[in-house]
Amino acid sequence: MLNIGTPRRCFEQRPQTIGNTNVSKYNALLAPLQIKSLMIRNRIFSTGHVPGYASDGLPTERYFRYHEEKAKGGIGLTIFGGTTAVSPEHTAALWSQLRVADDGVIPHLAGMRERVHAHGAAVMIQLDHLGRRMAWNTENWIPAMAPSPIPEPGHRSFPREMDQHDIDRVIEEFAAATWRAREAGLDGVELSAAGPHIFAQFWSPFCNRRTDGYGGSFDNRMRFSLELLEAVRKRVGPDFVVGMRVPGDEYHSEGLHPEECLKIAKRLEDTGMIDFLDVYGGQSYEHYTFSMTNTNMSFPIAPYLHLPMAFRSEINLPILHAQRIQDIDTAARAISEGATDMVGMTRAHLSDPHIMRKLMEGRPDDIRQCVGAAYCIDQLDFGPAMCLHNPATGREEHLPQTLVRKTSGLRKVVVVGGGPSRA
Ligand SMILES: Cc1cc2nc3c(=O)[nH]c(=O)nc-3n(C[C@H](O)[C@H](O)[C@H](O)COP(=O)(O)O)c2cc1C
Repeated sequence: MLNIGTPRRCFEQRPQTIGNTNVSKYNALLAPLQIKSLMIRNRIFSTGHVPGYASDGLPTERYFRYHEEKAKGGIGLTIFGGTTAVSPEHTAALWSQLRVADDGVIPHLAGMRERVHAHGAAVMIQLDHLGRRMAWNTENWIPAMAPSPIPEPGHRSFPREMDQHDIDRVIEEFAAATWRAREAGLDGVELSAAGPHIFAQFWSPFCNRRTDGYGGSFDNRMRFSLELLEAVRKRVGPDFVVGMRVPGDEYHSEGLHPEECLKIAKRLEDTGMIDFLDVYGGQSYEHYTFSMTNTNMSFPIAPYLHLPMAFRSEINLPILHAQRIQDIDTAARAISEGATDMVGMTRAHLSDPHIMRKLMEGRPDDIRQCVGAAYCIDQLDFGPAMCLHNPATGREEHLPQTLVRKTSGLRKVVVVGGGPSRA
């Protein structure tokens, strides 16, 4: 077990035997992980992602149940609120994101904490500013802003260049949002550079063409995130868990290459202000490269596992990683072979939120297997995320995730065209 700091709260401990199945090969997944005083009951988590279940920037009953179900299903950590807007002008209507730009959100975040903690899982929120990826033509109709005015194809935005006032304001907004998460009793926050969003837009030479103190040299490109971390720690102190989602390789000639990604990670670690790093591969600079971050069926299993491996050999922080690790055998191997400290199985939990419970009951074969079709994320352009395999996901209010088999009054039915679903 990786041990950093002193334990504050202990969730369920690792069972010695699981059901009647020989699950020793899965034992690595069941070891708890401690980050500062937070004890996470096992090595499986769901990454920050936006399922489109919020309304007016606030979580709904649908949203609560979606994460609560994963906690019931035995997950170690669930990170809710993908691309959560820290700024008031930042559109929440795009993909129905959460917005945490004022204190009124605190009871709603606390509501999520209660629902998830009730079932023994840890819960964090992903905090974000989309920068140049922000939609300008929804909600507030405010132009996007970014380190540099480079047009963004995904949302057809022509961002204006951030001035010093914008930079100071966004830094303060991240600090205030982190404080709100702490006040709500969440177990931590993940500041997200994924996308790449605002942090990585400052880091990346592709997005950052500035000639002032925030652009050019490596130190200058790091300045925004380092100032931001200082502001965050000033507001929440040293004990609250603050992690970051960071690139391991952007796979783009003008973007961040592996050596520079490691250098960024090392610099973040050296501040002593970061508690974990969640490593991803890819970027969305071009339309066609977006698929590199949301790896679909055309990608091999665990295509970027070498990225957390490289981080683990250089960085002394817990390393998290997701991206097309959809089956527990691959997840167990990734942990037992030391490639990463936690495995994200995000789409896999849309397909089956009860992965860990089934594993611990000795029923790994009953896990409803995600194939990585990425229908869930594609669907976001049209409305709430839905799963190709599991009609109950996102509809837990009306459809139970656990079906009780009837013993009497059975009817014969014929299923025509079941597609990739299973009976
Ligand atoms: C519906 C959906 C929405 C997503 N939104 C976000 C997001 O807001 N922020 C983020 O960092 N990643 C987001 N992602 C990407 C996931 O965090 C994760 O990296 C990706 O699904 C790969 O992991 P997986 O193969 O375990 O699903 C999203 C993924 C899905 C399926």
